[in-house]
Formats: sequence, C-alpha cells, structure tokens
Amino acid sequence: MNATPEAQTDRNLALELVRVTEAAALAASRWMGRGKKNEADGAAVEAMRRAFDAVAISGTVVIGEGEMDEAPMLYIGEKVGHGGPAMDIAVDPLEGTTITAKGGPNALATVALAEAGGFLHAPDIYMDKIAVGGGLPPGLVDLQASPGENLRNLARAKNRDVSDLVVCILERERHAEIIAKCREAGARIMLISDGDVAGVIATAQPDSGIDIYLGSGGAPEGVLAAAALRCIGGQMQGRLLYENDAQRERTRGMGIADPSHVYTCEEMAKGNVMFAATGVTGGPMLRGVRRFGEGAITHSLVMRSKSGTVRYVEAHHNFKTKTWAAN
Ligand code: FBP
Repeated sequence: MNATPEAQTDRNLALELVRVTEAAALAASRWMGRGKKNEADGAAVEAMRRAFDAVAISGTVVIGEGEMDEAPMLYIGEKVGHGGPAMDIAVDPLEGTTITAKGGPNALATVALAEAGGFLHAPDIYMDKIAVGGGLPPGLVDLQASPGENLRNLARAKNRDVSDLVVCILERERHAEIIAKCREAGARIMLISDGDVAGVIATAQPDSGIDIYLGSGGAPEGVLAAAALRCIGGQMQGRLLYENDAQRERTRGMGIADPSHVYTCEEMAKGNVMFAATGVTGGPMLRGVRRFGEGAITHSLVMRSKSGTVRYVEAHHNFKTKTWAAN
C-alpha cells in the first residue's frame, strides 16, 4: 500500500517522537533513586529540548515547563524543531519527578503533538478528571455526576458488578471524599502516589486491571492524557480547578472564556494527535530504563490517533556512540 507524502511524514514523525522521549528518559534514569527530583527533571528537560532540534517540525510548546520567565527550556511559546509542518507540542519530560527520585513505579517521559491549535492551552493548575477506556457507549461517564452514579453506569455497560470495578485515584488528602464515595458504592480502589498520565492511560489497557480514573491532578498532565486516549481510544472529561483569583485571571489571559467548562477528550486534544512515552522507572505499561555499563535499554510506546496503532519500541542504546547518555 502506497502512503501519501503527508501520511509518510506522519509516520516518520511518530518515530521521531520516540527518540525525543527516549532521550529524556535516558537522562532522567541517571537520577533514579538518588533523592533529587529537580536534578532528574532538569536532566530530562535538557535532553528532550536537545532531541527536538532534530525533529522536522515547526513546533510551538503549548504545554510545557512553565512561562518563559520561569522555565529556561521547553517554556510555553518556545519554538522547537528544525522546520516542517506547524504543530502544537505538549511535553512532560519527566512525569513523576518524586517517583523517579524515590525509585518508585510508573515514571515516564512523555510528548504529544497535534496540528497547530489542537491542544487546550491549559495553565499549570489542577484539573478534575474522569476517564474510562474504549468500546463503551459515548457519554457514559460524567464529571458532574457522583462517583457512585458513574460507577453504576460503568458496571452496567461492562456487564459487571460495581464490586468488580477498580478505580485509580491519586493518594491525596483532597481525595478523601471521592475515595469514601467509591468505597461506599462498593468499588475497589488502586491508590497511586503520583503519575496520573499513566493512571488515565491504564483505563484503556484491558490488562491493567484499572476500569476508571477519578480525581484531580495537573491540568497539563490532563491534556497529555487526553492526547493519549485520543490515540488508544477511551473517554475523558476534565474541568479546571482554581485555588484563587490569580489562577482564574491567568486562565482568562490564556484565552479560556468559560472557566467552569467541562472539556471532553476531543476538546483537549483535537484533530490528528500523536503521543509517545518512554518508561523511566518500570510499571505495568512500560519497563523502566535498564542501564548496564556500556549502554541502556529503553521501552517506549508511540501511537497516532489517525491509525489507532499502538506501537511498543524497545531500543538498545550504545554509550560508545551515544556518549551524552552515558554519564
Ligand atoms: P511531577 O512529575 O511534577 O512530580 O507530577 C506528578 C503528578 O503526580 C502528576 O502525575 C499529577 O498530575 C500531579 O503530580 C498531581 O499533583 P499533586 O502532587 O500536587 O497532587
């Protein structure tokens, strides 16, 4: 089958993206378990920024490391890539800085690409999230409904009891009520210490054992997770949460007119989307970076909304030639 030049570009880009997340994961892996989350994050950011120089796009970072005056690299509005189609970029070079510092599970290097204008410009505040996997009736879950109602609807759609369902929730004080309500409804809960991008994606992976994701986490992570679900299939809703007026103002300044809007997955990540992640530390979705003197092995996943293909890439890196990754 002959691919059009545009389709060919898309396919090549998807593999380029894996190089970008591999670079970030390799750099962060040097800091795994060393108790230094900022150093781990800094190494991932720098390596990812450098790797973008080789990617054939004219990219603009819309989900990044912060505003220009607070982040030296991969800041919001930064132009990356060495020229090509105009694209929006969402990055989290190290999703799970504390996990990495402690050597815990599920830290990822992640990137998503959309056509220009495709991603919600989410500020770095909290977002309330609900997500389920693919193959379910549209509109099945609703952020405005109670946890019990969502769980009962999901159980019915999956032809199971609520007690068969597993809910993934970030273990935080602020989630005490949601946790109590899920338990009251009869569901079982998997509490995670960090890393809600992996938590949301797990709902779309049948053998993860997770049926639904609930609770609040970073809004930028919400957009990345929505991009992933657009590719792998699934439903997600997100609503920005404000802790003060300054956050409300900042959001308005970013062009978000209705601060209480409930965003669907498609509204957070529109059109053709690509998503890539490389495991930094291992988990059910991806193995972590395995380093051995002269090299390392990385495990990544890359997917495109257009084809729906989920591709896993195991790469064997040689530090004799890839010298920057060695130390
Ligand atoms: P970091 O990579 O910045 O450590 O974020 C990890 C994370 O757990 C995200 O996955 C999640 O969205 C957010 O932090 C939750 O924020 P908080 O720790 O403030 O509850």
